[in-house]
Amino acid sequence: MSGVTRFGVSLDEHLLAQFDRVIARKGYTNRSEAIRDLIRESLVREQWELGSDEVVGTLTLVYNHEVRDLTDKLTDLQHAHYKAIVSALHVHLDPHHCLEVLVLRGKAKELKSVADRLIGTRGVRHGTFSATAEGRALG
Ligand code: NI
Repeated sequence: MSGVTRFGVSLDEHLLAQFDRVIARKGYTNRSEAIRDLIRESLVREQWELGSDEVVGTLTLVYNHEVRDLTDKLTDLQHAHYKAIVSALHVHLDPHHCLEVLVLRGKAKELKSVADRLIGTRGVRHGTFSATAEGRALG
């Protein structure tokens, strides 16, 4: 961390008491760390809303590989977006179902669109997309 600045915050007592209870429950030992995390979270959200910054994320898909053409469709989509998909992990969950975890990197808007298309492919039973900003953007 380069240079740390201290600053004072004026807060309503009741609001501060609620905040202290929440952060204690989450295991924070001091307010500074909790406030830093809140600020980082808000910066990440802001980057997503703007949509043009480089972000990284993971997409988890669960599907039945016996659904006609599904595996081909998912592979085609991934090849069409090979620049955004950094890595793919495939696990054969049981005789019918597959789990795929993809690591994506690129502009937020593009990643969201790739994730939505993969999750929306007919036959995909479940999909979750989780994103974060790149480390250097978080300080
Ligand atoms: Ni499989």
